[in-house]
Amino acid sequence: MAAPGGTQKRAPLPEARWPSRDEARASRLFSPIHLGPLAVRARTWVPAMVPWRASDGGFVTDAVLDWYGRFADGRPAVLVVEATGIRDVPSGPLLRIGHDRFLPGLAELVRVVRERSEGHTALLIQCIDFLSIRRRPDRQKFLERFLAIGEHHRAALLDLGLGSAADESSVRCALLALDETTLLGVLEPREREDLLFGHRERVTDTHLAHVRELPEVLPGLFADAAERAQRAGFHGVELHYAHAYTMASFLSRTNTRDDGYGATAEGRLRLPLEVFAAVRGRVGAEFCVGARYLGDEVIDGGGRIEDAVVQGLAFARAGMDFLSISKGGKFDDAKQPKVGEAAYPYTGVSGHECMPTVRIEGGPFGRNLPLARAVRGALRDAGLGTPVVGAGGIASFDQAEDALARGDCDLVAAARQSLADPDWWRKVEEGRGAAVRRCVFTNYCEALDQRHLEVTCQLWDRELETPDPGPKPVSMAQDGKRRLVAPPEQPSA
Ligand SMILES: Cc1cc2nc3c(=O)[nH]c(=O)nc-3n(C[C@H](O)[C@H](O)[C@H](O)COP(=O)(O)O)c2cc1C
Ligand code: SF4
Repeated sequence: MAAPGGTQKRAPLPEARWPSRDEARASRLFSPIHLGPLAVRARTWVPAMVPWRASDGGFVTDAVLDWYGRFADGRPAVLVVEATGIRDVPSGPLLRIGHDRFLPGLAELVRVVRERSEGHTALLIQCIDFLSIRRRPDRQKFLERFLAIGEHHRAALLDLGLGSAADESSVRCALLALDETTLLGVLEPREREDLLFGHRERVTDTHLAHVRELPEVLPGLFADAAERAQRAGFHGVELHYAHAYTMASFLSRTNTRDDGYGATAEGRLRLPLEVFAAVRGRVGAEFCVGARYLGDEVIDGGGRIEDAVVQGLAFARAGMDFLSISKGGKFDDAKQPKVGEAAYPYTGVSGHECMPTVRIEGGPFGRNLPLARAVRGALRDAGLGTPVVGAGGIASFDQAEDALARGDCDLVAAARQSLADPDWWRKVEEGRGAAVRRCVFTNYCEALDQRHLEVTCQLWDRELETPDPGPKPVSMAQDGKRRLVAPPEQPSA
């Protein structure tokens, strides 16, 4: 990945001091907390990570069960299942919860996590809606088939002295013959973006009926999904209001919808609050419902921490059971994809802030905690006790414990460290921190996600030669070269 800010220097991994078993047991990190109605036994949290293991139809597979079962071995207090689609529409190997036919697989997932964590892990599922995004088209295909020819194209060709070209196919031929710079000058901004990046729907495309009607449709879809999660036995749901997806786009300062669902702080919050109200109305007060949203969008014209504070107060007052704070991850500043590939929202500056590597200026370690601290501080000042989850480059006991002691957050989420070593929480809790396989934060895993390949960790494969003591043979990725789950902990010599 390119180094944001132009630096190639790698931030060193912080020294890790590991606690004894007694120190860990007495720590804040391993003390219980309530997420609304849900009592969890510690402040340890594995946030959502898409592993690209669902079937093409969006069903839970054995590989999905192995993936979550492996996290459950480490007994985090909370484990959040990947962003799971709430609609009944094909979306490739991404998990789905948009129909009752997905229930048996999801119920099996709940069973496996309960069994492998021995009941120590609360299981949430992240519910997502996203709008359509197309791959970057080939220039010829775009001009011959996708571009809707309008009067502005004819007028521009006339200005260029290329005739009035009344019929559509002559306009297409004339555009095809233009050099790149002239063509880009003729196209309108959205057409230019469609050509250079691939067409992407926005929540502001209210000329499209299905986009205009999102406020009518989404509360019901989210409520249906949450009810299915409840029926499948999950302990709660996390509404995905973060990153590049529909709900985050409603919350975004870039949302200029003029139908009461954008334009002002209140308008931008309206649909996220209506979705939450519909979900709560469906699942009741005894089911945990929270949201993940952005503390900073990190894009030009996007929301900053001041917006996130206002949103956090509104969510807490509405009765959310937790708020999980993330950062960036937007399409707005994504790198131009190659022809035939889709834009990936973690490639621009906002994306680098979402999953920061050791090459980011200032390093990734605890980088996003100030955002969680600001939201939490505002909640507490307002007399609201809603728990706040912090994430971003957390990979040691001291980091986590200090974040809790400083009041940055109430629960500590670690995605990539938990991927590198799913047993790490348990090792720390048991005073065996020295055995933790430490994430190196160079984002091999994220590069696989970008290419929609099964996500694995580079460190697992270093131990490929180590025989697994378990009865099952090692499951390998489709390329036959990578383990699909972290190797089991080796018995100490
Ligand atoms: C492979 C991968 C997939 C991810 N998928 C999701 C997702 O589905 N939903 C989400 O909110 N965040 C997702 N994230 C972001 C993480 O939850 C987390 O916020 C981010 O990696 C920063 O935390 P970390 O430094 O502990 O890794 C993903 C991260 C990775 C590495
Ligand atoms: S591949 Fe492994 S070591 Fe590298 S960033 Fe991802 S989890 Fe960490």
